[in-house]
Amino acid sequence: MLPLILSASLLISPAVAASRNGGLTIRGDGFIRSSVSAHAGVAPKLRHKRQDAVSVTNQKTGTSYTVDIEVGTPAQSITVILDTGSPDLWVNPVCQTSGQESYCAQFSQFDYTQSSTIQDTGYADVLSYGKGNVTIEYVTDMVTIGSAKIKDQIFGIGLDSYDIPMGILGLSPPVNPANAYPYVLDTMATQGLIKSRAFSLDLRSVDDPNGSIVFGGVDTGKYIGALEKMPMLDPAQTPSGADRYWITMTGIGITLPDGTSQTSDPIEVPVFLDSGGTLSRLPTAIFQAIGGAFPGAQYDPSSGFFVADCSVANETGSVDFIFNSKVISVPYGDFIWETSGGCVVGVLPDDTEPVLGDSFLRAAYVVYDQDNRNLHLAQAANCGTNLVAIGSGVNAVPSSTGACTGSSPSVTAGGGGGLDATATRAPTNVITGSSPGITSVGFGPGPVASRVSVSAGGLTSRPTGTGSSAEPSATKKSAAASSVTIGYGALVALCVVNLAAWAL
Ligand SMILES: *[C@@H]1O[C@H](CO)[C@@H](O)[C@H](O)[C@H]1NC(C)=O
Ligand SMILES: *[C@@H]1O[C@H](CO)[C@@H](O)[C@H](O)[C@H]1NC(C)=O
Ligand SMILES: *[C@@H]1O[C@H](CO)[C@@H](O)[C@H](O)[C@H]1NC(C)=O
Repeated sequence: MLPLILSASLLISPAVAASRNGGLTIRGDGFIRSSVSAHAGVAPKLRHKRQDAVSVTNQKTGTSYTVDIEVGTPAQSITVILDTGSPDLWVNPVCQTSGQESYCAQFSQFDYTQSSTIQDTGYADVLSYGKGNVTIEYVTDMVTIGSAKIKDQIFGIGLDSYDIPMGILGLSPPVNPANAYPYVLDTMATQGLIKSRAFSLDLRSVDDPNGSIVFGGVDTGKYIGALEKMPMLDPAQTPSGADRYWITMTGIGITLPDGTSQTSDPIEVPVFLDSGGTLSRLPTAIFQAIGGAFPGAQYDPSSGFFVADCSVANETGSVDFIFNSKVISVPYGDFIWETSGGCVVGVLPDDTEPVLGDSFLRAAYVVYDQDNRNLHLAQAANCGTNLVAIGSGVNAVPSSTGACTGSSPSVTAGGGGGLDATATRAPTNVITGSSPGITSVGFGPGPVASRVSVSAGGLTSRPTGTGSSAEPSATKKSAAASSVTIGYGALVALCVVNLAAWAL
């Protein structure tokens, strides 16, 4: 059974200044820290060196990162996937159709009939993710993250969902601005809980309880050197035209076990950072460059993965991602996935919406600054806790250098050479004969690269939080759920009819 790691959270009060408390240095005000747990699950599981510390055997669900929040009055604790690739918060997946029924059932559902502060907005929607979808009804209620109490937050209650085992806390910009409403990060800022719409995310391996998200703050005890400021791309500059955490990757490299490294010539590849994605998906030429240089890797045409010997996870070496003068090095052990058929290199080709998922984010400390549309990156490390608040304004993110020291990546940006990341060519080292039997389906428990918020037809505006004051009714729920089988248009019609009838 998976451990359900409880969030240890704190809201920093202005009264507490620079006090040291059990290794935790607390300073300033206006930020909220909450623990982020890694959940191992679905085969193939991520290999990493310290995995033995926690029992993750027999789980069939990949790895996702979750945070515990509280919803309603009185507060009910709910575990949700933390997703930087989508904007909406919703709870209550339907476990029977999650594809991972018993795993899903381990997590509490929000019993909205027990909340005295819930209000229905009268709006419904269908959110489609890279993997899975959910039909939600929007409500407003108290949402508590850490000890920050957000009033009247709009979020969805799942009426019907597929292939998603937990609710999702989305923290991306509005992917489609026309559909936007005040998301969690917006509300935290407007209710004065944080000064900027910014947060720092530190994802860790599955057996490491130290992963965290800091809303409105930076933890300088979690990275090496200076943060590299990267402008978020305007939607028009991105391959999909959707507003996400897109930045430009300027090079790729690989450091071999013997310490030598190869790097690409300078490139300009838009990628978006997605904590809800387990794998990285990169343009075909880069996928082939990594696979071709990865020690002993062979291309497996039947699964589309590069297959590697599992023992490579124990070797020193890294896949290196270059952003201007900053190099983020991902150790082999964090980049290899163990499957029943063997180990695979954790990257797939994607020329449409390239994404750096958890395999990259575990090695990076990232500050997401929506107000100024910048991301700040550094190599992740752990040398204690030193929280610094993010203020407001153009230079709100402190330019604090990370307190950690560590071997800096041997790759230098723009140097080296030897890795061709631009030419698409046939892989040279291809498995012939019998395939190892790896299937690419099932990678990642939740959302992957692309997801689109589908505005429900017939609903002309988004929830405002001023809807009728009542709870979603069981009648409506079952009506909406059953209507899905008779088509999407009918579903929306039913929802609208139902909501209208019910509002009277
Ligand atoms: C949601 O996913 C299920 C299963 O893949 C599919 O049958 C259904 O049509 C999808 N629903 C919507 C509204 O996209
Ligand atoms: C978590 O952090 C504590 C305190 O910094 C440290 O002692 C411990 O080793 C860390 N855990 C892991 C798995 O790194
Ligand atoms: C990696 O090293 C550990 C500890 O030395 C060992 O137990 C494990 O079998 C090794 N894994 C592989 C795949 O060689």
